[in-house]
Amino acid sequence: MLGLLGQQGSDFAHKVDYAHDVVTIISVICTVAIVGVMLYFAVIYRQRDGKDHETPRIEGNNTLEIIWTVFPTLVCIWVAWLGYDSFIDLRTPPANAMEINVTGRKWAWDFTYKNGKKTTGELVVPVDEPVKLVMTAKDVLHSFFVPVMRTKADVIPGRYTYEWFRPVQTGDFQVFCTEYCGNEHSKMLARLKVLPKAEFERWLADDSEARKLASLKPSDRGKELYVSKQCVTCHSLDGTPRVGPSWLKIFGKEGKLADGSTYKADENYIRESILQPQAKVVQGFPAMGMPSYQGQLSDDDITGIIEFMKTLDGTQKVEVAPALPKKSAASTVGMTPAERGKALFNDSGNMCATCHSIDGSALVGPSFKGLYGRKEKIADGTEVTVDDAYIKESIYKPTAKIVQGYAPAMPAMYEGKLSDQDVADITEYIKTLK
Ligand code: CUA
Repeated sequence: MLGLLGQQGSDFAHKVDYAHDVVTIISVICTVAIVGVMLYFAVIYRQRDGKDHETPRIEGNNTLEIIWTVFPTLVCIWVAWLGYDSFIDLRTPPANAMEINVTGRKWAWDFTYKNGKKTTGELVVPVDEPVKLVMTAKDVLHSFFVPVMRTKADVIPGRYTYEWFRPVQTGDFQVFCTEYCGNEHSKMLARLKVLPKAEFERWLADDSEARKLASLKPSDRGKELYVSKQCVTCHSLDGTPRVGPSWLKIFGKEGKLADGSTYKADENYIRESILQPQAKVVQGFPAMGMPSYQGQLSDDDITGIIEFMKTLDGTQKVEVAPALPKKSAASTVGMTPAERGKALFNDSGNMCATCHSIDGSALVGPSFKGLYGRKEKIADGTEVTVDDAYIKESIYKPTAKIVQGYAPAMPAMYEGKLSDQDVADITEYIKTLK
């Protein structure tokens, strides 16, 4: 009705919204009516000519009293029924629900599937299938809240709680911790990814990357991640500066930070720089240049990267195989240009989504929402219109015309990686994001 709670992602969301809307509407009507009558009486019975009005003596009115007793009672019973009815839905997972174990800890969410697959910060589920989350916490109270599914439950150490939902559409949705659990509580987020059934089955069966990584020695694991997590885009291995510092001889390096203080690149400094890149930025590098890898790298991954850095001491030349561009020509057949552009945008190998939102929120780069056709001031003060030519130039030569207020953080890696057709498709996609 009112749409106050946003998109409805689960099959019981409409019931929750209905109960919420009914209570909201009744409350608004009652507030307006009561305050209105109160103001009206206050005005007409105000003291006039220095004389008070004498209140007439009223003995009572049985008809009125019956009406204002019976009618609100019926409304209350109705509201209670609405709440009870949707509560039963929320608390009764179907017997065939797929179970996923959820562990809350300061300050991340871990998910474990029946086949042993584990993720952190990302809950992947199939569309149209009931999913039951069996939840517990390692340390303190947390609460798992999926607004789009209209469900949340406390997550408690030493006890199991559960919640369930059946997603009705695919997409990426936000998960929050809604129990204040310490100083990083507000960052205790996760992403819910609802996939088509077949795609989910493929994803669930594919633990090849995790297995491969687990079998490697730490420094080789770090080397793999250097490529697969796109560190390579901004950090060279041969001493050439890119957006970020080169990793050559980086371990143990000392230098100055942007604020003038000094740093030493030991294990803790590197760990912090991966998880909170903005905390201690080295002088001469863009402050907002690097996105946080919180939730994307496990502790073992970070140890691996540090061990890999330790091998880059300049005594031997280290080569890595370039990341293979993931081309899936077959799957783009029959898609419109805008759909192909969307697929390119979401392709993790292209990393657009790392720095550009589609909902207007500011990340490292400008949001794509409402971008097309906008007039922007660039760093030298001239004005540009965001049209096809400007977008193409900005993708191929990101530092050519940087809009005021943004860091030169975008890597020049797309020329040769994205074809003219790809760029045109991405432009079409941007046009749809009004
Ligand atoms: Cu966990 Cu708040």
